[in-house]
Amino acid sequence: MKVIVTGSQGMLSQDLIPIISTEHETVSLAANELDITNKEKVFDVIGESKADLVINCAAYSQVDQAETEIEQAFRINAYGVQQLALACRQHRSTLCHISTDYVFDGTKNEPYQPFDQPNPISRYGASKLAGEKFVQSILNRYYLIRTSSLYGKNGNNFVHTILQLAGKGGPLKVVCDQQMSPTWTVNLAQGILRLISTGNFGTYHLTDRTNGGISWHEFAGRILERKGSHAEIEPITTKQFARPAKRPAYSVLDTSLFTLCSGYEPLPWEESLKRFLETI
Ligand SMILES: NC(=O)c1ccc[n+]([C@@H]2O[C@H](COP(=O)([O-])OP(=O)(O)OC[C@H]3O[C@@H](n4cnc5c(N)ncnc54)[C@H](OP(=O)(O)O)[C@@H]3O)[C@@H](O)[C@H]2O)c1
Repeated sequence: MKVIVTGSQGMLSQDLIPIISTEHETVSLAANELDITNKEKVFDVIGESKADLVINCAAYSQVDQAETEIEQAFRINAYGVQQLALACRQHRSTLCHISTDYVFDGTKNEPYQPFDQPNPISRYGASKLAGEKFVQSILNRYYLIRTSSLYGKNGNNFVHTILQLAGKGGPLKVVCDQQMSPTWTVNLAQGILRLISTGNFGTYHLTDRTNGGISWHEFAGRILERKGSHAEIEPITTKQFARPAKRPAYSVLDTSLFTLCSGYEPLPWEESLKRFLETI
């Protein structure tokens, strides 16, 4: 297939592009080459490329900043995604779009299914949900993949932050009352590669495998343990760690439909973390 990847300088896309390129002719477009909010350009590029598939990794991903930069978050995560979906429909390309666990409110206490009712509690989550709705209402041929808590070698993320803080001697205070599934970008990218060749369109969840989720505190502990660090990590509550955007208390995603429809079994989170730490 001919595949376009948008937002090619992002954390996910930098790991995704080499993996997709192993099987597909891949065209990578950075934000300065294709701004997804530029309607004319989006239609021109998708039309001229004759791409079979567009993988949208372009996003406004600053969760806290989105609380004040509301218009910009919606411009990219909703309007930009709408333009991609419309252009894909016009030029008969399939769209693979990435979304987030933050479309859920976190009030469930068992993993979210792809068809559970979203109810975002942050502006970022609301902007991503708006993008999802455009994809689902404009297109028949789409893969919509929600993921969570990404880390990879090319971006600011929790693993890098913990290692940096531990390197400086701490102190480390990490929230212990938010359950999630961390996800290594390479694990996600390998799943995307498998799903896009199936033709099994729809909405899916893909994260690293956890048995019902882990807390950020547990994740931090394992990062340091694997690095042989003895830095102390104090567990704190969400209430003690005030941030502009609310986070769901429980945002574990059930990945079984993804596995059923793609054949891809995500790695367990400990294995992903081990492999990731070996690469940095
Ligand atoms: N990171 C996470 O923990 C997480 C969790 C769940 C879901 N997700 C989703 O996963 C996807 C990938 O996330 P990520 O962490 O890789 O994000 P990222 O590192 O922030 O990458 C996003 C990319 O999009 C580009 N971009 C921004 N506005 C654009 C526009 N108007 N047109 C084209 N490109 C634009 C950015 O370029 P500039 O940097 O130049 O602006 C950046 O290269 C996103 O959809 C995100 O919502 C992420």
